[in-house]
Amino acid sequence: MRPRLVAGNWKMHGTRAAIETLVEELKRGIDAGVRAEVAVFPPYVYLPCVAERLAGTAIALGAQNLWSEESGAYTGEVSGSMLRDYNCRHVIVGHSERRTLMGEGDDLVGRKFARALAHGLIPILCVGETLAERQAGRTEQVVARQLGAVLDHAGIAAFRAAVVAYEPVWAIGTGRTASPEEAQAVHAFVRRCIAARDPELAKVLTILYGGSVKASNAGALFAMADIDGALVGGASLVSDEFLAICRAA
Ligand code: PGA
Repeated sequence: MRPRLVAGNWKMHGTRAAIETLVEELKRGIDAGVRAEVAVFPPYVYLPCVAERLAGTAIALGAQNLWSEESGAYTGEVSGSMLRDYNCRHVIVGHSERRTLMGEGDDLVGRKFARALAHGLIPILCVGETLAERQAGRTEQVVARQLGAVLDHAGIAAFRAAVVAYEPVWAIGTGRTASPEEAQAVHAFVRRCIAARDPELAKVLTILYGGSVKASNAGALFAMADIDGALVGGASLVSDEFLAICRAA
């Protein structure tokens, strides 16, 4: 069985007080019913306080982003080693909000992915098509391009220590989830892309689904053969919802 992961991407939400409350609720709520690995991704400035509160618990810490270089004159950016200083285990790269709003291209995403690995962080590489791309029948082409750019940059072996998240852009924050079958089809395609370079690795690669995952739809998504967990945005800010998703995984 592949490792299951439920990742809560808090995006740019919350205040220190709200985040402390959320962390404490999650700590209290994680019980034997949660067998998947659980990780939370607070905004950068809250990493130190969340790291402190999560020390010694089963909940892992991750960052929403990192910069592609180790250090230097990069105003406003944060490096992989800084994230390691606060016990981050994972880092999200290539999220569609960064691709679209911050103009991050495949090349930069590839460099960030490699930088994360160089620091012993587990990159969660997000791929996914827009609604226009899906309607034009280009979903596989787009996902293959996004994946291929990182594979070419980092090499297939790098995916041994990575996670892929399929996040259709049209399902993120819209309340519109891909149906379990729609998601499964793309997850199977991602696995085939990896299998073309390393069939054994493809069998163990964790592939998350992201895009309006809620307690009410998580079970059906997780029942699909190639869906190994979720990258959760909005629902990860509500402890009961997020814990129910964790249990479903
Ligand atoms: P959502 O976000 O669950 O709010 O759709 C998912 C994501 O952006 O990772």
